[in-house]
Amino acid sequence: MKGDFLIISCSLSPASRSRALALALHERLLTRVQAEYIDARRLPLPFCDAAEAYGHPLVAPLQARIAAARCVILAVPIYNYSTSGFAKNLIELTGEAWNDKIVGFLCAAGGHRSYMSAMPLANSLMLDFECVIIPRYVYGSGADFAGDEINAEVRTRIENLAATAIRLTEAL
Ligand SMILES: Cc1cc2nc3c(=O)[nH]c(=O)nc-3n(C[C@H](O)[C@H](O)[C@H](O)COP(=O)(O)O)c2cc1C
Repeated sequence: MKGDFLIISCSLSPASRSRALALALHERLLTRVQAEYIDARRLPLPFCDAAEAYGHPLVAPLQARIAAARCVILAVPIYNYSTSGFAKNLIELTGEAWNDKIVGFLCAAGGHRSYMSAMPLANSLMLDFECVIIPRYVYGSGADFAGDEINAEVRTRIENLAATAIRLTEAL
């Protein structure tokens, strides 16, 4: 399944936990399939203005990479009970490149109470672009990390997400 899997890390934080989740998933996927990785820190996107931003030189190549993947995993920080602005802006800029993707989430949050914060973005991807959302996403809170180290429970959930992503992508 060459090029079928794409992980996008949506945190601009220099010490990002969601990036640690993304890198752990990437490592896991690479043991079985080819998977690409995109890091928000290397992607200085403009804000979507529904006009000229679509013509920014970074946007068309990004649309092409998303369109070429069958399964996209978004690694997102939780800010204000929602996914990061970068993630939402990314989808606003790339729009129909998301049509019919299988989409999974890796979330990093401060606490447990924001568990459902990825759902508005998931709903939008389902309704706008007919994405199939992998239901059991990975959610890590502050207590699940010691520096860059991810605890065993979240590591198991990452392994499960990798297995489900591959199974669904093969099946659909
Ligand atoms: C502006 C801001 C808003 C935040 N809002 C929430 C929130 O609503 N719920 C929560 O559990 N954590 C919240 N946090 C904590 C972050 O989710 C946490 O630091 C997480 O590790 C961020 O992901 P990252 O490390 O990948 O950047 C917030 C942090 C910031 C900076």
